[in-house]
Amino acid sequence: MTITLSESIDAIRSRAPLVPTIALVLGSGLGDFGDHLSNTISIGAGEIPHYPMSSVSGHAGRILFGTLEDGGRKTTQLVVFQGRVHYYECSDLGKVVYPIRVARALGATTLFVTNAAGGVNRLFTPGDLMFIRDYINMTGENPLIGLKGAVGQRIRPAFDPELLAIARRTALNHAIPTQDGVYCWTKGPTYETAAEIRMMAGAGADAVGMSTVPEVIAASQLGMRTLGISCITNMATGLSKEKLSHAEVTETANTVKANFTRLLTEILFALS
Ligand code: HPA
Repeated sequence: MTITLSESIDAIRSRAPLVPTIALVLGSGLGDFGDHLSNTISIGAGEIPHYPMSSVSGHAGRILFGTLEDGGRKTTQLVVFQGRVHYYECSDLGKVVYPIRVARALGATTLFVTNAAGGVNRLFTPGDLMFIRDYINMTGENPLIGLKGAVGQRIRPAFDPELLAIARRTALNHAIPTQDGVYCWTKGPTYETAAEIRMMAGAGADAVGMSTVPEVIAASQLGMRTLGISCITNMATGLSKEKLSHAEVTETANTVKANFTRLLTEILFALS
């Protein structure tokens, strides 16, 4: 562990001397899920040395420790990241994946990532929840570039098929409608052009967004198993008459909150 990371870990452990097994990253407008935790310990990003801060609205920048409890059920210890830092905020992928390194150093072996994304698949509707089966990295960037040791490892990042199967089964068992698809990562901060969306659709993308992929790459290198869900907050450029805006993204995220909460809760119980 680097000195920087161990200083962050020491600060977190002094507040929350707990070993989480699952790390959950909550994307744009989805941070309220953290309110459902029990036995919560909340730590602000600003209280942790070296921890990156997000400047985007809808990203609280807090780490929560807690469990979900429902009747007699209780999940394993969770660490929840409310909000994330995007590449377009800092052009530093080291900062973007720093929370993943923190999660692993705290003991988490499973990463559960969520995000808001634009629908590229014409059969999708805003409000759909999509299990991320695979991704396309449209940026040409990679958080492992220059990382000592990682180059020779020849990592093949992927979402964990077993976790995906559990998640699909859970959705089915609880009659929560979901989609399945490929997430395409772009740098942002601009939205895409209609021509870019046509290209992405042709390349096999079902959704597009500005996050998640670097986190999954970092998690793979750290040996973590990863599961991902996109909340389709809008149809991508050219696929809808609505004018795209961050307000629409957070608005839709709000309307799917109940379904999103139920799906995440049941999956977290199934994984515990
Ligand atoms: N494009 C890129 N990122 C996004 C979108 C989109 O349409 N919606 C939410 N995040």
